Amino acid sequence: MDVIRATSTICQALAAGSPKVLCTQEVEEAKALRESLGEGVLGGERRAVRIPGFDRGNSPREYVEPLAEPLILTTTNGTRAILSAARRCDHVLVGSLLNLSALVESLRAAHEDAVVVCAGVQGTLALDDAFVAGRIVELLGWTRTDAAEAAARLAATWSGAEDAFRASKSGRNLLENAPELEGDIPFCAQESVLDVVPRLGGMRDGAAEVTT
Ligand code: MLT
Repeated sequence: MDVIRATSTICQALAAGSPKVLCTQEVEEAKALRESLGEGVLGGERRAVRIPGFDRGNSPREYVEPLAEPLILTTTNGTRAILSAARRCDHVLVGSLLNLSALVESLRAAHEDAVVVCAGVQGTLALDDAFVAGRIVELLGWTRTDAAEAAARLAATWSGAEDAFRASKSGRNLLENAPELEGDIPFCAQESVLDVVPRLGGMRDGAAEVTT
C-alpha cells in the first residue's frame, strides 16, 4: 500500500480497464522494459512530478480512461514496496482507500494471515499509509498485532482521510513539489469507490506484473 499515490494510481488504472501494470524500481528498468516489450505507457514520478521523457505521471486522475497498452510504472516508494512484498509473500494484493471494501472482502475470502505492507517514505512510517492500514484492520476485525492495533487507534484520531493525508509526509511532499496536483489528495481520500483488487500475477523481466 502506498496511498499517496502509487497504489491509488494502480487501482484507478486497472478499474478503468487498463490491461495491466508492470512495476519497476528504477527509471532505467522501466525504459528497458518498454523497449523489450515493444509497447507500454511509461508512467511514474520522482519528487512527485512526472519523470522527464515519460508519457504520464503518478496522478490517479491521469488514469480514469483505460490505457490501450500496459502501464509501466516506477515511483519513489510505492513500486519498490510492491517489489519487496513480491519477494517475501505468497500472494500480494494492492490496496488503497479507493478499493478498501473490495480489498477487505478479498482478504476475508482468502482466510489467511495478512500482512499490511506500508510503503511509507524512504523507509519511514507515513501517516497516510498508517491511516489506511488502520481502516483495513478495523474493517477486518481479526486478531491484531500491536502494530495493527496502533494503526487502528491512529486512524480513529483523525476526522477523516483527507485530513490525515494532508498531514502526512507523503501529502506534504506532494503539496511542496507539485502544488498543482493538490486535487490528488481528495481523490485518493475517497473510500470504497472502486470494485477492484489488483494482485501480483508474477514477475516479468524483474518487474512485478499486477492485474485484476
Ligand atoms: C511514491 O511511490 O513515493 C509515491 O507514490 C509518491 C507520489 O507520487 O506521491
